[in-house]
Order: sequence, then C-alpha cells, then structure tokens
Amino acid sequence: MSDKIYDVAPEWQKRAFIDNAKYEQMYAASVADPDKFWAEQAKRVDWIKPFTKVKNTSFAPDNVSIKWFEDGTLNIAYNCVDRHLAKRGDQTAIIWEGDDPKDDKKVTYKELHAQVCKFANVLKAQGVKKGDRVTIYLPMIVEAAYAMLACARIGAIHSVVFGGFSPDSIAGRIEDCKSTVIVTADEGVRGGRKIPLKANIDEACDKAGGVTSVIVVKHTGAAVNMKAGRDVYYDDAVKSVSADCPCEEMNAEDPLFILYTSGSTGQPKGVLHTTGGYAVFTAMTHQYVFDYHDGDIYWCTADVGWVTGHSYIVYGPLQNGAITLMFEGVPTYPTNSRFWEVIDKHQVNTFYTAPTAIRALMQAGDEPVKKTSRKSLRLLGSVGEPINPEAWEWYHRVVGDDRCPIVDTWWQTETGGILITPLPGATKLKPGSATRPFFGVKPQLVDAEGKVLEGATSGNLCIADSWPGQMRTVYGDHQRFVDTYFKAYPGKYFTGDGCRRDEDGYYWITGRVDDVINVSGHRLGTAEVESALVAHPKVSEAAVVGYPHHIKGQGIYAYVTLMSGEAPTEDLKKELVGWVRKEISAIASPDLLQFAPGLPKTRSGKIMRRILRKIAEDDFSNLGDTTTLADPTVVDDLVNNRQNRA
Ligand code: PRX
Repeated sequence: MSDKIYDVAPEWQKRAFIDNAKYEQMYAASVADPDKFWAEQAKRVDWIKPFTKVKNTSFAPDNVSIKWFEDGTLNIAYNCVDRHLAKRGDQTAIIWEGDDPKDDKKVTYKELHAQVCKFANVLKAQGVKKGDRVTIYLPMIVEAAYAMLACARIGAIHSVVFGGFSPDSIAGRIEDCKSTVIVTADEGVRGGRKIPLKANIDEACDKAGGVTSVIVVKHTGAAVNMKAGRDVYYDDAVKSVSADCPCEEMNAEDPLFILYTSGSTGQPKGVLHTTGGYAVFTAMTHQYVFDYHDGDIYWCTADVGWVTGHSYIVYGPLQNGAITLMFEGVPTYPTNSRFWEVIDKHQVNTFYTAPTAIRALMQAGDEPVKKTSRKSLRLLGSVGEPINPEAWEWYHRVVGDDRCPIVDTWWQTETGGILITPLPGATKLKPGSATRPFFGVKPQLVDAEGKVLEGATSGNLCIADSWPGQMRTVYGDHQRFVDTYFKAYPGKYFTGDGCRRDEDGYYWITGRVDDVINVSGHRLGTAEVESALVAHPKVSEAAVVGYPHHIKGQGIYAYVTLMSGEAPTEDLKKELVGWVRKEISAIASPDLLQFAPGLPKTRSGKIMRRILRKIAEDDFSNLGDTTTLADPTVVDDLVNNRQNRA
C-alpha cells in the first residue's frame, strides 16, 4: 500500500464532465432512484422504439433475471456508425497502427459505414440471419471491428475468440455456441512473428464439425488452404454485394455477443451480453471515465478478443463518435519505445493499458520512454489486474511526466463495463486503489458467511444490485450463471474478487479468491490447465496454482503426477509445457512445473490447494495443519523438490 494521495488538478476540475460535487450528487441520485437515473442516461443512445420500462432485475437465487429497457428497440451498430454520418462523416473513426511501424491507416465514419454495410451483406450472403452465432478469429485489424459491427447490424451474435487461442480452444467455443460461420484471416502478425490463423481454424473445424462457411480476410497475403464449398476470401465475396444494408431492429434484451471467459470450475463459459443496457453503459462509462471530448485521440491497447476490446475499443468509443486507435503489435517491437512512439505519431491524448505491460516496460528503464515526447498525453488508464503502487508511480512519473491522472478501472467480462474507478476530474488518486464506485454501482464486502461488513474492512467483493451492462446469462446454461454468481451470497452478485475498503471508502482489489488466476491480465481457470495436463497420456494427475510473478502479476505453477513407470525427465517437463500451449494457448503454459509422486489430499480425496499455493509462493515454513492429509509425507517431497521462482 502507498499512502500518497494525488489531488485533482484545477485544470481537470474545469475541463472534466464530472467534478467531485457532481460525482457525489449523481452517485446519490443513481442509487436512490435507478429508474429515473438510467432513463435519463439512456437518452445518450438513439432508440428506434423508446422504452417505457427501465429496470426489471432480480438477484434472488431461485429467480435470477436481469432486464433493462426491455420494451425498447435499437441497433447498436447504428449508434456506433450511422448516427455520426451527418455531423462527422469525414472525421476519423479508427486509426489503425500495424505491427510494422510503417503500416498504418485511418478510417473515417463514412468509410466505416460503407465497410460495415458491405461486411454485413457478405455475412447475409453466407446465410447469416438474426440470432445466428458468428465466430470471429481475427488479428487486430480494422476488419475485426467491421465484422463485429456487421453482426450487430444484422442482429447476429458475435463470439470473438482471441487470436492466441489454439485450435482445441476455438473448437470448444464453436461447438458451445453452435456457430456455423467463421470469420478469420490468412495470418496474423505480432512482434514480427506470423500466426497461422487460417490453419488453426481448419484444425478447429475438423474437431468441431458443423461449420458451413469460413470467410477469410487477406492480411499478410500468405497462401492458405481453401476448402472448396466452405471457404471464401472476403475480397471475392465482397465484389458481389451492395454497400447498402439496413439495420435490424433489435429489442434491448436481444443478445449482442458471447464472450468466453474462464471460471473456477470446468471449461470457459459463454458470457452473454445483450443490446440496450450494454449500449448505454459502455457509452456512458467511456465518456465519463476517460472524460472523452469530441476530437480526443483515444487508445486502448487491449485485443478485441477480450472484453476490454469490445467495450473500450469498439462499442463505447464508437457510440461516442470517438477517434479510437487499434494497434496490431506488441509493446516491445521493434523496440521498447513502441507504445510511446505510437503516442507521438498519432498524438494520442488518452492511453489505456494493462499493469503487466507497464511492469515489463518499467524493467527496460526510463530511457526508452524519455526519448519520446508524449506531450499529447492527458490521461492514463489501467485495467485487468491489480496495479502495484511502484508500477503506478512509474506510470505516473515517467510515462505521464507527473501531469496525467491515472484511472485504475476495475471490472470484468461479466460486468460489461467499468464498475469501480476514479473519474479524472472528480477523484483524488491513491496509487494501487481503483477508488470509488461508478454511478449506479453498489459494492459490498462480505465475510465467508455472507455477513455484510461495514466501514474500513476487507472481504469478498459483491455488488448489491444490477447495472445496465451486466451479463444476462451463461449462453445455453442459465443454471450455471445462477450457481456461479448468485449462490455463494444469496441476493448479491459475487465477483470472485477479494477487496479492502479504507477509511475514505476507497476500494483496493486484492485479487481473486477463487480458483481463477490472472496471468498478465489474462484470466485462466486452474481447472482448465489441469484438464489439459491430464489429457497427456503420461500424466495421471495435476494440480495448478498461481504464484506472485514480478511482471505477469501471477505465474502458473503446475504439480504433475506421472503414470506409473514414466520417468520424470527435463525433456518431459518441456513437452508438457508445450502440450498445454498447444491445447489451450501460450498464455496458459506453466511457468514452473514440478513432478510430484503424490499430491496432498484429504482422506476424502480433495486436493489441499492451500498447501500447494504456499509451496509455490515459497512460503512453506508454516503450512498449517497437515495432519488431516491422507499421506502427510507427500508434503516433504513437495517442499524438497520445489521449483525455483527466481
Ligand atoms: O480479478 C479482477 C481483475 O480481472 C478480473 C476480470 O478479468 P476479465 O474478465 O478477464 O476482465 C479483465 C478486463 C476488465 C477481475 O475479477 N481485474 C480487472 N481489472 C482490475 C482487476 N483487478 C484489480 N484492479 C483492476 N483495475
């Protein structure tokens, strides 16, 4: 913890939409009368048919039901594109910066409109109709935004799969939502390295079945296998379609997208977001949290494969008529100065990134930052994991030249948008704290028994009532939605995070309290990594835990028991790490892997993760009570053969 406090600078109080008095007044109004507050906020969206009902939500475990603006109709692609044409048709909508610094382009709102309409007609020509699921597996190229908005335009539900996921992971997601149409590219490029996207899709389609159409965007121009009757190049398909495509009229509660995310048990679940509430909430949070004014140049470095890319590269900014930058590359290519060079090149005003990137760049020292100007920067943002005060201070002092406030935004795939955050014109900053709730958000800290804790305290973070951007269900499995989020503390949404509230009512997220780990801002279920490991023919059992990692936030520590007769060699270790990479993704591959002849289990066979976590954290002096273990001697072997974290 840091005890420094950064006041709001006078120029920010003047410039910002929300100062502290306004925050207090609006927050009080938002929780006192949500219907009135959100009806007013919903005016920022253009509705086709206005709603008459605002909030209709229940968190009761036997009746979890979340509906906002339920009798209104709208189209979010219209809100992102068409409605801006009259006023800002010739203004840039998207600045694209390629992996290679020589590659960039700008797309105006008028061009975006034409491209989205054409893309929508290509989808229609492939048979896509309202309600159909379309899987999008693209690199960070403008076509990713076109494809998402094209789906939204015709009422199809997109499921974007991060370009780093393996064929197996893609296949699981295609099967889960039964999507028959895929949009991909020949290859992606990151940090100069090619990613064989189309080849991955071919393999995924072999595993999943049911895919009738693969639309391939030419990006690098590499020759790829095209299956006759199934695969079509976008460039060819687009030749025969018109640039005119009306927007489908969508009910506020019609699904907009599915995004798969990891939980503490089982395979990733399809988080379902709907149209109206998500539109209002992402537009509003984008405007207020980033204090977005017309003409500002805004850059969020996330990938569209994650929720941050959905809400704060595409839907939030474009609804606000913003200039949003999309970056294909990585922070370290060609050099450690890349982020800052892009900021200078495009005169970026607002920069939003993840703590893991900040920590990695901090290691490279100040010089790669200081040799750039960054004079255009006004506001910095952080998302995805707790930011340690040292990284926060470095970001503030070195990147922001002590001039730019930092908004540390806490939220989740499930929340659709930012829930706890500073507002730059209103909130005094404390390094490492996500500070205060956004409008309409009622955080509560509860103890293990569910008792609500008051005042300065620590506990499990719940949200007491619904907000418009909240997920509506787990696609195809409403019971899983109820069980995951509403069972532990009945009547509340449980976030899975631990949190502290200080004397000023500031919130400090301490990280997950369930079996989810956060590796470089990427969320992984330990169960997923374990099930990948046990799928290897030589592995009998596996247990995976997180441990503190100085750059990634958390690293992955895997304990593996081999089939009897298998030798625990260094080669096998490498093979298993590579296996997980292939089964899930590079982000899931264990940092440390230890062969364990036995795992610490209770007599009823439950693995005692607490002990495994302590050993992984190098905190094995006090392992607590081990007498309840079926075989307490396994612990000595685990401690003696622990892997070196350095
Ligand atoms: O543990 C919290 C952490 O990331 C989790 C959500 O991950 P995901 O659904 O992938 O969404 C990430 C981008 C919104 C949370 O449960 N997290 C996210 N932002 C923060 C954070 N932890 C601390 N501080 C944050 N600002």
